[in-house]
Amino acid sequence: MSVPTDSNRHADKGGRGCGIFGYRRSRGRTGNRCRMTNPFDLTGRVALVTGSSRGIGLALARALGGAGAQVVLNARSAEALDDAAATLRDEGLTVDVRAADVTDAGAVTEMIESIETAIGPLDVLVNNAGMQDRAPVLEFPVDRFRALLELNLVAPFVVAQAAARPMAARGRGKIINIGSVQSELGRPTIVPYTASKGGLNLMTRGLCADLGPKGIQINTLAPGYFATELTQALVNDEEFSAWVAARTPAGRWGRVEELGGAVVFLASDASSFVNGQTLFVDGGMTAVV
Ligand SMILES: NC(=O)c1ccc[n+]([C@@H]2O[C@H](COP(=O)([O-])OP(=O)(O)OC[C@H]3O[C@@H](n4cnc5c(N)ncnc54)[C@H](OP(=O)(O)O)[C@@H]3O)[C@@H](O)[C@H]2O)c1
Repeated sequence: MSVPTDSNRHADKGGRGCGIFGYRRSRGRTGNRCRMTNPFDLTGRVALVTGSSRGIGLALARALGGAGAQVVLNARSAEALDDAAATLRDEGLTVDVRAADVTDAGAVTEMIESIETAIGPLDVLVNNAGMQDRAPVLEFPVDRFRALLELNLVAPFVVAQAAARPMAARGRGKIINIGSVQSELGRPTIVPYTASKGGLNLMTRGLCADLGPKGIQINTLAPGYFATELTQALVNDEEFSAWVAARTPAGRWGRVEELGGAVVFLASDASSFVNGQTLFVDGGMTAVV
C-alpha cells in the first residue's frame, strides 16, 4: 500500500505496490520490480544549520550537503559565514548564508521568511548555535545564567517555532536540536549549561507532542566531547583531556565529522518514524559510570 507522506515522497513515484518505505518500482530487463532507494538521500532538501560558521555546526552542514541537501549556514559574523561557505562550495556543495543572531526573534522570523521565499521550502532545521559559560555555582552571576538560557534554550524554541509554521502547513519537516552529554549528566561549574541542555532535551519531547501529528519529526542529537572553539580551554588542559579519554569507552575526544552520520539519519527519510528521541554520539560516555 502506498502511504503519501514525507517518508516516501521521493521514493513512491514508481506506482502502486511499491510504496513501502525506501522502495520504488522500476522496469528492467527482468520486468517490473521494486528496488531499494537510498533513504538517507537529501537531494532536493533545504537544510538550515544555526551557528554553522565553525565547529560542530559547520561539520553538520558539510554532512547534510554531502548527502545532497542545499545547506543554509547561519551565524552572527557575515565574514566568518562567507569564509565557511567558500570552503564548502570548494568541496562541491550547494550553500547559502544567512547572518542573523538567533536570540533576536525578529531577525529569526526574517531569516526563515527569506529562506522560504528566496531558496525554497525549509525541510530541515538544525538548532545548533549554543554557548558554554563556566563558574562555580556559588559565584555564578544570574545575568550570565539568563544570557546562556537565551541562546541555548529560548532561541531554539523561537527558531523551531518560525520554521515549524511553514513545515506544519506542508505536513512535513525535520527539526534536530543539538544537546550534549549534559542533557543527562551534571558536571561541576556548568549548572546553567546543564540546565539549558536538559531543558532542550525535554523541549524536543514537547515539540514532538505538538508537531508530531503535523508530520514533523523532532529529535535531539547529543554530542559527547568534541574539540572545537567552545571546548578549546578543555582540550588544552592536559588533566581534563586525560579525564575525557579515561571516562569515554572510545578512549578519546570525538572528531566533528563523526557527527555526520547521525545528523543525516535524523534529517532524512531513514528516520521517518523516529520522533522525540535523543541520539548520543559520545563514544559511549553516557552508557557507563
Ligand atoms: N564542542 C563540544 O564538545 C560540544 C559537545 C556537546 C554539545 N555541543 C553543542 O554543539 C553546539 C555547537 O558547539 P561548538 O563547539 O561547535 O561551538 P563553537 O565552536 O563555539 O561555534 C558556535 C557557533 O555558533 C555561532 N553563534 C554563537 N552565538 C550565536 C547567535 N547568537 N546567533 C547565531 N549564531 C551564533 C558562532 O558564530 P558567531 O560567533 O559568528 O555567531 C559559531 O558559528 C552548541 O550547541 C554546543 O552546546 C558542543
